[in-house]
Amino acid sequence: MSQSSDFVPFALPSIGPEEEEAVLAVLRSGWLTTGKATLAFEAEFAAYVGAPAALAVNSATSGLHLALEALGVGPGDFVVTSPYTFVSTAAVARHLGAEVLFCDVTPAGYDLDPEALEAVLRMNKGVKAIIPIHVGGYPCRMGEILELARRHGCAVVEDCAHAFPVRLEEGFAGTLGDLGVYSFYATKTITTGEGGMVLARDEELRKRMATMRSHGFDRGAWDRYTSKKASWRYDVVEAGYKYNLPDLLAAIGREQLKKAGRFLEERRSIASRYLEAFGGHPAFELPPVHPAHAWHLFSLRLRPEALRVGRDEFFERLQAKGIGLSVHFIPLHTMAYWSKRYGLRPEAFPNALDRFSRTISLPIWQGMSAAQVERVVEAALETAAEAGAPGPAAAGA
Ligand SMILES: Cc1ncc(COP(=O)(O)O)c(C=O)c1O
Repeated sequence: MSQSSDFVPFALPSIGPEEEEAVLAVLRSGWLTTGKATLAFEAEFAAYVGAPAALAVNSATSGLHLALEALGVGPGDFVVTSPYTFVSTAAVARHLGAEVLFCDVTPAGYDLDPEALEAVLRMNKGVKAIIPIHVGGYPCRMGEILELARRHGCAVVEDCAHAFPVRLEEGFAGTLGDLGVYSFYATKTITTGEGGMVLARDEELRKRMATMRSHGFDRGAWDRYTSKKASWRYDVVEAGYKYNLPDLLAAIGREQLKKAGRFLEERRSIASRYLEAFGGHPAFELPPVHPAHAWHLFSLRLRPEALRVGRDEFFERLQAKGIGLSVHFIPLHTMAYWSKRYGLRPEAFPNALDRFSRTISLPIWQGMSAAQVERVVEAALETAAEAGAPGPAAAGA
């Protein structure tokens, strides 16, 4: 690693000898692209979350695009989502010629607000899909969102880029809506470097996505090249995309999936330590907690009234102490493209703006040592003290 040894990275993938051997086996197999390993990864992932089937894709962005395409989203339609997300959640609607209607997050959280959603749905006809995002692995209020979607006749696509595994009483996040999309990007809890998975309840939607994932072919390359009886003939039934996940990456995913339970436990234990260390401190506000939280992110909020510096300077000071940090998210409606397209001012979504202005994402990854967690805690407490915050002992005074 090029970083100095006491630098605590913001995120680090947990890749072991199992992943290395699995990739070597694919390299030596003579079949590198989508084939046996990808089919096995899909089956194993589907079994894990209790879905009838799963489709592996080369990113969650591709998966979200396929999901909306399969729902028939196009010009004249609206897709509702929160501005508190990564850009592709909304961009895929624009790829299909649809417009995005943003809806604020909850008053205290990072999740789509069902009350604001109800108002958006009441005021706008032509909403074809809602994309709630389980930001950081904290589950959205799916019961209320699904009920509103049912009443207004729209589909729900869960953005589970951060939400594997989030096991709720009703089932895993990603299996509750009409479709669910996961990311295996390099910083995600289980990773394939780049990659994703899509679920759909409806078999017709799955078939459509399978076709569109591979150029609109009537069957996969795997079927055409690998059997003695294979025919070279194929037809193209749609103008599809190239969104398949190669076996080289699926092989990594299969090994990561076996470790997902352990990864989750490790993240939970880091989150518990942060909650304990920062709880009750006058400079900090804790992120909302949920028993099913996947803790992909630990987003600490600052209390500006207790500090002489704002979030940006606090970030820089903490980073200068050797702590890798990030901010999730810069709300989309404050970015050039989205603010211009829809004439949105930052104050249009006050909850999203409040969260953004006070949030810092701390390092949280499986494999992080107890000493590294303590380094983060000490550095954050020290930064708060240097920025004029009274210590935790004075919190109740
Ligand atoms: C909430 C959210 N949705 C979607 C994506 C897109 O994921 P991918 O990089 O796999 O395309 C990301 C990426 O980080 C994300 O954070």
